[in-house]
Amino acid sequence: MAGSALDTISDDEARARLVDQLLADGRITSPAVERAFRRVPRHLFAPDDVSIDATYADDVIITKRGPDGRATSSISAPWLQAMMLHAARLRPGARVLEIGSGGYNAALIAEVVGPHGNVTSIDIDPDVTAQARAALDSTGYPHVQVATADAETGRPAAAPYDAVIVTVEASDIPPAWIDQLAPEGILVVPLRMRGNTRCLTLTRETNHLIAIDSIVCGFVPMRGAAANSVTRRALRGDDVTLCIDDPDTQALNFDAQTSTLNGPHIEAWSAVTTPPATSFDSLHLWLASQPHPYGQLAVDRDRAADLEPQNWVACPALLTDDSITYLTIRRLDDTAWQFGARGYGPHAAPLTQHLLDLIADWDRHHRNTPGPHIAVYPNGTIPPPTDQPRLVVARRHSTTAITWTTSRSRA
Ligand SMILES: C[S@@+](CC[C@H](N)C(=O)[O-])C[C@H]1O[C@@H](n2cnc3c(N)ncnc32)[C@H](O)[C@@H]1O
Repeated sequence: MAGSALDTISDDEARARLVDQLLADGRITSPAVERAFRRVPRHLFAPDDVSIDATYADDVIITKRGPDGRATSSISAPWLQAMMLHAARLRPGARVLEIGSGGYNAALIAEVVGPHGNVTSIDIDPDVTAQARAALDSTGYPHVQVATADAETGRPAAAPYDAVIVTVEASDIPPAWIDQLAPEGILVVPLRMRGNTRCLTLTRETNHLIAIDSIVCGFVPMRGAAANSVTRRALRGDDVTLCIDDPDTQALNFDAQTSTLNGPHIEAWSAVTTPPATSFDSLHLWLASQPHPYGQLAVDRDRAADLEPQNWVACPALLTDDSITYLTIRRLDDTAWQFGARGYGPHAAPLTQHLLDLIADWDRHHRNTPGPHIAVYPNGTIPPPTDQPRLVVARRHSTTAITWTTSRSRA
């Protein structure tokens, strides 16, 4: 249970403030979800050392870390939980499978589906399920079923589900999730596609699934049978980490990359500008969608400030065996920032020009569209051919096709 004598606000006041904020931000858009957030005491699911203020901030709470210090479990940020509840289109009486437990989100789901609904929550970590079980029991949700199980197998015992809500980053869609979904069911899943994670709302369409909604998000990575981590390479000592989420790219020889960023660079600027405080998500996914070796740079801001990537955590980069070009940006004036490309290595010039061309294509054809069409094809089905730009992510159980159309027509 979170909170201490130092708290300046009661949990009731803090919860009311959070819900008011989520309503004002447009994150909560239905009375049922609002009621759930007003009722479920988030602080009773949080660790003891988290203050009431922090518990009811619109932010993630880390609840467990692995030996490397990385988070392995957390209570997701309220704004994202609210949006995922809406995405799942939950109705009273619905049967729901939550993959990735903690207790709090399962309690929210239980509130929304009501006494005639059915909620099952699974987690691979027995510590997490034990904690979730205890917190659910003590807060009035003993009817929520909690089990220790791997996401890969789902939970056939309580299927079929009207909604499967995955609260851990996936890179693939195991057959169990589709098999256990009711015919009109909805699968909400944070799917990593070449390093870009989008929480997709997937529905059945003949033999495959299509995304009817997509939210940029981040989650702790999947462990167990479906684990599929990105490859990380240290560059320039360990000032920079190159993250590669692409089996083809992994076939390249990246040993030569380790010192590429130590050398001289070229820089070139596109004609494309952006107003301050706008989202770069569409451009990032577009750059990842190219048939070119691609990675993302995580740059240490203190040690490598000179690199000036557009994004310090996940900056899009085009690669060859020995060269690298990444997205950069500079301020022109109060109203505009300009995109550019910075290249290192013997092939920096063509690589840099290629990145500028891609930025121009995005600006011309895709910047003001609703985004790509995303569809998941289970093994045994294949995406139909298209002449539109497309990223195909082939995994063990499924293939995801991210197709960029220049109009609203869908491939
Ligand atoms: C973000 S947390 C879940 C948050 C939770 N739904 C809440 O109430 O906010 C993600 C969870 O996924 C779990 N997880 C990771 N890999 C898994 C797997 N293969 N199967 C089931 N759970 C897994 C982790 O142990 C972690 O507890």
